Amino acid sequence: MFWSIAQISSFSFPDSVVPLAMRIMFVCLGNICRSPAAEAVCRTVLNRRGLEGQVEVSSSGTCGYHEGEPSDSRMRQAALQRGIDIINTSRKLRREDLDAYDMILAMDRENYEDILAMAETDAQRKKTALFRDFDPQGTGDVPDPYYGGRGGFHRVMEIIERTCEGLVESLKEKAGA
Ligand code: 4NP
Repeated sequence: MFWSIAQISSFSFPDSVVPLAMRIMFVCLGNICRSPAAEAVCRTVLNRRGLEGQVEVSSSGTCGYHEGEPSDSRMRQAALQRGIDIINTSRKLRREDLDAYDMILAMDRENYEDILAMAETDAQRKKTALFRDFDPQGTGDVPDPYYGGRGGFHRVMEIIERTCEGLVESLKEKAGA
């Protein structure tokens, strides 16, 4: 089950965190490619719009294979070419994150299903969505670039940049900013 646009527009942003102190967790598999890129891009978009003090972003992975490692050098390079510096140490998503964060955004359907399998409450399930539900040009997965060529990392950056703009725009609309 994935979110329709209608459901997103009725996303239950908690009153207490609009417009302050929204916490967003981006989740992929290894937390070395897609979710750290989404975290870094989103932070950049928030900074550009003067919202950095109002929204906190973080990232994690559903598996712990790469725990403690820096982000993939190919991902970092693709981001750097767009002026984004990814500084992250991989960590696994923890059950307490599902309470601590207001939005849990999965990079692909498999991540989404893994997060739902970890969730224990309706509140945790309700705050979980696919990241690309905020992509103004499409829906579905941010493709996993790990086993592909360098072009895949650039395509991932395009999707992430566009979707982060859509996400921040939707936060601003919800906050009435
Ligand atoms: P990520 O990419 O989930 O975007 O960080 C991957 C990183 C590592 C692996 C797969 C995807 N892996 O199989 O090790």
